[in-house]
Amino acid sequence: MSRRSWSRDAVIYQLYVRSFADSDGDGTGDLLGVTSRLDYLTDLGVDALWLTPFYRSPMADGGYDVADYRDVDPRFGTLADFDKLLMEAHARGLRVIIDVVPNHCSDQHVWFQAALTAAPGSPERQRFHFRLGRGEAGERPPNDWQSIFRGPAWTRLPDGDWYLHLFAPEQPDLNWDHPEVRAEFANVLRFWLDRGVDGIRIDVAHGLVKAPGLPDVGHQGTTLLVGDETPFFDQDGVHEIYREWRSILDSYEPERIAVAEAWLPNVYRTARYVRPDELHQAFNFEFLGAPWSAGAYRRVVDSSLEVMGSVGAPTTWVMSNHDVVRHVSRLAAGVGGAAGGARAASGVAAQADLALGLRRARAATLLMLPLPGSVYLYQGEELGLPEVFDLPDEARQDPVFVRSKGTELGRDGCRVPLPWSGSQPPYGFGPAGSVPWLPQPASWAESSVAAQSGVASSTLTLYRDALRLRRELVALGDGELRWLDQPGDEVLVFERPGRAGDPGVLCAVNLGSVAVPVAAATGPPLIASGPLTPDGLLPPDTAAWWTIR
Ligand code: GLC
Repeated sequence: MSRRSWSRDAVIYQLYVRSFADSDGDGTGDLLGVTSRLDYLTDLGVDALWLTPFYRSPMADGGYDVADYRDVDPRFGTLADFDKLLMEAHARGLRVIIDVVPNHCSDQHVWFQAALTAAPGSPERQRFHFRLGRGEAGERPPNDWQSIFRGPAWTRLPDGDWYLHLFAPEQPDLNWDHPEVRAEFANVLRFWLDRGVDGIRIDVAHGLVKAPGLPDVGHQGTTLLVGDETPFFDQDGVHEIYREWRSILDSYEPERIAVAEAWLPNVYRTARYVRPDELHQAFNFEFLGAPWSAGAYRRVVDSSLEVMGSVGAPTTWVMSNHDVVRHVSRLAAGVGGAAGGARAASGVAAQADLALGLRRARAATLLMLPLPGSVYLYQGEELGLPEVFDLPDEARQDPVFVRSKGTELGRDGCRVPLPWSGSQPPYGFGPAGSVPWLPQPASWAESSVAAQSGVASSTLTLYRDALRLRRELVALGDGELRWLDQPGDEVLVFERPGRAGDPGVLCAVNLGSVAVPVAAATGPPLIASGPLTPDGLLPPDTAAWWTIR
C-alpha cells in the first residue's frame, strides 16, 4: 500500500483506564471519566489514545485477563459509554487504539469454563494447551517453562490434566494452532473495527505461537523484559497471524493500524513484526531500556532508524508504560536494561534521587520528541510523576507482587491514579471523598494538572510547548536526522531539517557531568528542559532545541 499512514509520526498517549479518571466514585477509572477529560488531551497536543483493556474481566491482571472480548466491564462502563468516548474523541480529531489480548484469556472466559467441565482429551480442552504431567503419576509439570509472573507456567486440575499459562494461572494460554481461536479473534477485531476504532495494540504479540511439542527451555527462568530465545516467544508462526490481521485492517476505511507489544532480544527481531504486510508499528523497548548515556542513546537511535527503515516501517519511541518503573525514578538511578522490570523495582527505589530523575526525564522528553517516527507517552509522565515505591503491601494488586511472595514490588507503583486538582486525595481523580484503588502520595498535590497548568517551569508546560513545537517545526515521520560532532563524549547534538520553508530544529542533550557549549546553536533556545547557564552553556542533564539558522 503506498499511502502514508497517519501513525508514522503520531504522538500516542497511553491511557491506563483504571487510573485515569473515575466518573462514578468507585475508586476505579472508567470510560466516562476518560470522555470527561478529552479536552485535556487535545490541549496537551497528542494525536491518538491507546486505551488499556476495559473488557469484562475478573481483574486478576488489571484487565489483561479478558472474560468477554466483546463487552465492557461494568467497572469501566458500558458499550454505549465506549461509543460515546469514541465519538467525542473523533469529534476532537483524536484517534483511538484499543488493546487486544490474544495470547491468553481469563479463566472465567466461556471457553475455559467449558474446558474445565469437559473431560481430559475433549475438544473443549484443545483450544488451550492441556497436557499430561511428567513423572509416574503425572505429578510434575509437562515441561520446565516458568511463568513471566514467577512460578511454574503450568497448573494442574483435580482430574490430573495440566494447563499452560505464561502469565497468571487465571490467564490460560490459547492454542493458536486451533482454527476456532484464529476465527474468533478475526471476529473480535471486526467487532471493534466496525465500531470505529482506529487501531489495535497487540498484547504479548510475540507469544501466540509455541514451538511444536512444547519442548523444554533447558534453563530456568524468563523475564518480562528481555526476550531470551525461548520455545514460547517469537516463533515464526506468529507472522502468518499478523499477515491475516493486516488484511483485515486494510479492508477498512479510513485506515486502521496495529502496534505490537513484543519484548524481543534485538531490533532485528522486532523489525520482522513490521514488514510491509504485517503490523504498522512495534514498541521500541530498546530505547526505553537505554541507560543514561550518550553512547547508548545514539546507538539505539541509529540502529532503530536503520533497521526499521530497512523494512519501510517507522520507528517508535517510548520511555514508560504500565509495566515498567516510571522513567523519572529509573533515570534517577541511571540504570538501563530491564530496569523497568518489576524485578528491579526495589533496587531502583534505593537509589532514587527524584530531583535528578526529573531533570533527566525532562531532558529525555526533548531528546525523544524531535526524533523521526511515532512517540508513545504514558499517562502521568507529562506531570513528571515518579514511581510510587512505598505502597502498603495490602494495597498492591499486581500478581507479580503476590506470586513472588513480595520479593518483587511489581507494577502497581506506575499505576497510581492521576492527580488532577486539589490539595488532598483523590486529587480530582474521582469525586471528593472517593477512595482511589491505589493510594496517592501526599506530595502529589503539587504535581496535579491544576497545580502545573499555566506554570512556566512545570513539566506539563514543557510537554505542551514541546508537542506544539514538534507539530509546527520539525519535519516529522520519515524526515532526516543528522548528528553533529560535538567535543565531549556525553553530549548528543542533532539536526532535524524542517518542512518546506521551515528552518528545522537543532537539539542538544547533555548527559554528562559538566556544562558544555553547543557550538551549532545560535540565539536563545526555543525550548529547554531546564535553565541554561548565564553564559549560555548547556548544563548536565539538560536538553534544548534551537531554530537552525
Ligand atoms: C503485557 C501487558 C501486561 C500484562 C501482560 C499479560 O505485557 O502489557 O500488563 O500483564 O501482557 O497480559
